[in-house]
Amino acid sequence: MIRFSPSILACDYMNMGKDIDRMEQAGADWLHLDIMDGLFVPNISFGPAVVSAVDMQSNLPLDVHLMIVDPDRYIDAFAKAGADYLTVHAEAVKDLSQTLDSIHAAGMKAGVSLKPATEPSVLEGCLSKIDLVLVMTVEPGFGGQKLMPEMLNKVSVVERMLRGAGSGALIEVDGGVTMDNAMQAVQAGAEVLVMGTALFNSANPGNIMSMLRAASEGAEK
Ligand code: DX5
Ligand code: ZN
Repeated sequence: MIRFSPSILACDYMNMGKDIDRMEQAGADWLHLDIMDGLFVPNISFGPAVVSAVDMQSNLPLDVHLMIVDPDRYIDAFAKAGADYLTVHAEAVKDLSQTLDSIHAAGMKAGVSLKPATEPSVLEGCLSKIDLVLVMTVEPGFGGQKLMPEMLNKVSVVERMLRGAGSGALIEVDGGVTMDNAMQAVQAGAEVLVMGTALFNSANPGNIMSMLRAASEGAEK
């Protein structure tokens, strides 16, 4: 079963509540929240206050993607804000294993994200502590970019690594995922699809999700 995590970076900020309701009604499984600090990535987005507002609005699990320097400083703030999954970039932390422990201690599931140039080998040594691996399919920082097809091979490498170690961690792809390339990501091993512009800019996001769900179920048979 694939899951959809619409990225609210692409919503209409003047109508965020309505846009979130629209995604929930369209069949979204999670909501993806991109936190950017202008240092780890060149863009600035929003912080825990917005996550907390989204948590009040929606019953969906909140999939919070931290693109910030030294994310350990904000683990408790995002736990309080209602994050269910907290994903950090492997490159942004000093001691990945310790950061994953802190996320768990704060009551959240722990994710690790890999930038396009980051090798999956950075996950070795803490596989048993990882609940989610987020493979970036664009350079992090902005929505609306084109998916880098060469990242799909990385998804397969991550899948082999996780399953080989007996890990059931979810594999998520993020960046440039559209109706046209989502099935390739699923075939490579992706189970959670982050989609920003593809869903929020669509007049019928429910159609996109149901067509892809049907295609992925057909592919399983
Ligand atoms: C990029 C973010 C993505 C972004 C995806 O740094 O991590 O989550 O919102 O947006 P689309 O689907 O438009 O590429
Ligand atoms: Zn993201």
